[in-house]
Amino acid sequence: MSLDANRAPVRVLVFSASLRTGSLNTKLANLAAICLEHNGGQVDLARMSEFDAPSYNADLQDQGNWPTGAHRLRERLEECDAFVIASPEFNASMPGSLKNAIDWVSRFSPQPFNELHGLLMSASPSMVGGNRGLWALRIPFEHLGARIYPDMFSLAQAHRAFEEDGRMADRQLQERFDATLVGFMNLVEASKHYPCAKRAWVEYLGEHPEPVLDRVE
Ligand SMILES: Cc1cc2nc3c(=O)[nH]c(=O)nc-3n(C[C@H](O)[C@H](O)[C@H](O)COP(=O)(O)O)c2cc1C
Repeated sequence: MSLDANRAPVRVLVFSASLRTGSLNTKLANLAAICLEHNGGQVDLARMSEFDAPSYNADLQDQGNWPTGAHRLRERLEECDAFVIASPEFNASMPGSLKNAIDWVSRFSPQPFNELHGLLMSASPSMVGGNRGLWALRIPFEHLGARIYPDMFSLAQAHRAFEEDGRMADRQLQERFDATLVGFMNLVEASKHYPCAKRAWVEYLGEHPEPVLDRVE
């Protein structure tokens, strides 16, 4: 997929959902940031440790004690058009720290994930690259109104995939990775210029309106 030279810049928050030093997903997130910038994107590269938070507790929320990590993630999301997350797969799902961050941020109003475009990627030493975790991750994001890109990039045998300069050793794989990101950026840019009609976030569209339960924005 080629780059549209007339495309307006898009701002993308990129982070790896691993807290680990030497993380394979952080390598993948760094590579995504390089590719996005190379193709005209404006990147905010963050670390999961910046968004780490104590387990969600409605009492803390009711007392106004929102964790700093949740505030930070909300602010960074509000400043971008899209996000890219490279997430490890833990037990065929997403890491608890990432789900916890999503849960905290989902309680802000307006709810920051609504209408944001997202691209999910993963890296794992396994043969399927942590892809099952991304299907699980898709669910809360789509529930929250994020537009999750249909293609997801899962880097298999990631412990052997990177060269010293951080690029993928397999050139074809690197090209596929770049094409996925460019395709995603083109969609984000198009949606900036041709925003779709849906503006509101209604948690359950078909539910009988009930002021006590409604989460409508
Ligand atoms: C608690 C736990 C559960 C894991 N479950 C899976 C799994 O279901 N599938 C998988 O491919 N790898 C699994 N792994 C291995 C991770 O993919 C591997 O440790 C990976 O390097 C973690 O990502 P990171 O390098 O970005 O920190 C698991 C690791 C841990 C610590």
